[in-house]
Amino acid sequence: MIFRQLFDRTSSTYTYLLAERQGGEALLIDPVLDHTSQYVRLIRELDLKLVKAVDTHIHADHVTALGALREQTGCTTAMGAMTMTECVSVHFHEGEKLSADNLHLEILYTPGHTDDSYSFLLPDRVFTGDTLLIRGTGRTDFQNGDPAAQYDSLFNKLLRLPESTRVYPAHDYNGMTVSTIGEEKHHNPRLQVSGVQAYVELMNGLVLDDPRLMDIAVPANRACGVLVAA
Ligand SMILES: [Fe+2]
Repeated sequence: MIFRQLFDRTSSTYTYLLAERQGGEALLIDPVLDHTSQYVRLIRELDLKLVKAVDTHIHADHVTALGALREQTGCTTAMGAMTMTECVSVHFHEGEKLSADNLHLEILYTPGHTDDSYSFLLPDRVFTGDTLLIRGTGRTDFQNGDPAAQYDSLFNKLLRLPESTRVYPAHDYNGMTVSTIGEEKHHNPRLQVSGVQAYVELMNGLVLDDPRLMDIAVPANRACGVLVAA
């Protein structure tokens, strides 16, 4: 398998490039608009063909490269069925697969950070978007965030995966690149709660600033990152 973890320093976003084999099909998860040409170059250098660009959810902190990548490579753009945007070519559902050659990512619906948050699962790793971060979890105070739904996504879906499953989040602000389900279960401070009520109280007690780019990024991302002049 070809696997690359790419980083956007401005928003601390991780973008993942996956392919089964050299010369084959590639898939990008959570690409950032500013790096479009870097992705296109890397895909060409690795002799891959981009077939799909997907976002785990509508991001509030950076503009997505979905639209730009579709224009430049002809790839399919995909987001979850709960994402209220017309701009993507495909809306996926829980239980379906996102595929590049024989690489099949299982789709899990993991709402809570937003109501359109999904995770993508391979046998040995899971891409958790902003639902499960390394030693943290995505905030639940905007974009229809819901701490009780996030508790359910975490405790009844993600944490039920084998403990050895590697965790690749959409962001990290502390220089961490990867974790495991077991590591997060035991050491993630947000997950050391007695139940859903305690988790809701913990999340509702957080005092956080809005992301700097939120007013630009959310409307732009509803249009796949293609900025439309007002
Ligand atoms: Fe997010």
